Amino acid sequence: MSANNALVIGGSGGIAQALIQQLVASETYDRVYVVSRAASVPTALAEDAKTLTWITLDSLDTEALETQISAWCDEDTAFSLIINTIGLLHSDTVKPEKRLEDIDIANLTRYFEVNTMTHAQWLKQAHKIVHSGGATYVAFSARVGSISDNHLGGWYGYRASKAALNMLMKTASVEYARRSKNTRLVCYHPGTVDTGLSKPFQSNVKPSKLFTPDFTASQLLSILPSLGTDPNIHYIDWQGEEIHW
Ligand SMILES: NC(=O)c1ccc[n+]([C@@H]2O[C@H](COP(=O)([O-])OP(=O)(O)OC[C@H]3O[C@@H](n4cnc5c(N)ncnc54)[C@H](OP(=O)(O)O)[C@@H]3O)[C@@H](O)[C@H]2O)c1
Repeated sequence: MSANNALVIGGSGGIAQALIQQLVASETYDRVYVVSRAASVPTALAEDAKTLTWITLDSLDTEALETQISAWCDEDTAFSLIINTIGLLHSDTVKPEKRLEDIDIANLTRYFEVNTMTHAQWLKQAHKIVHSGGATYVAFSARVGSISDNHLGGWYGYRASKAALNMLMKTASVEYARRSKNTRLVCYHPGTVDTGLSKPFQSNVKPSKLFTPDFTASQLLSILPSLGTDPNIHYIDWQGEEIHW
């Protein structure tokens, strides 16, 4: 059995690529697995390609996901770290809403599919592949998913789908406490990070508050070891500070 593996989900994203590079460089894990919709390893990760296992999978494809989970179970591959980075803020067709009139069913559906349902798919399965001796499951959330911290309004779909992700994580934590005792669940806010996701919204961000993907990845990986399993759920930011739900 190989149990000290790491898994990054949404591997072609800006933050994910920095995480993958740092996980590989740390030599902490037997193997780093990556799940992505992309067919092949992005150019930026070419040097790491030999030490990675790249799996092409759409996390909304239930059958494909279940087949992959079964394969890992059959070959006794378990993970001590799973990081799900999947998230959507804008696309060619989806734009964050500025006001009530912008609310649109198709856009809301897409936000919930990507930001919430892909994560539900993984939460449903992850208890089967986490290392029984101790594991951490991180979902990239966002501070705007905090209900109590919402003073600015706007971004209805992104906020609501991240709040729903937080609720899924919190709800799953109750069941994981019974079924997968040594697993910690973490909803993570990385700060504003210079990736394609934040590009159109960076103009009001002070340069000192616009983080590189490398900084974000190293912050997360340095914070994780200090988190306990009681409680088994944390909602934290890039400084390791708790965010109010
Ligand atoms: N950047 C920021 O300032 C910021 C701030 C707060 C929170 N976050 C959160 O951090 C996470 C990573 O963000 P990032 O900045 O690295 O963004 P990114 O570069 O746009 O990456 C997002 C990843 O989501 C995955 N994804 C899977 N299914 C998708 C779909 N149907 N549509 C769009 N993307 C899909 C993609 O992975 P594959 O293509 O490999 O499948 C993509 O690589 C997200 O959850 C985001 O909400 C980011």
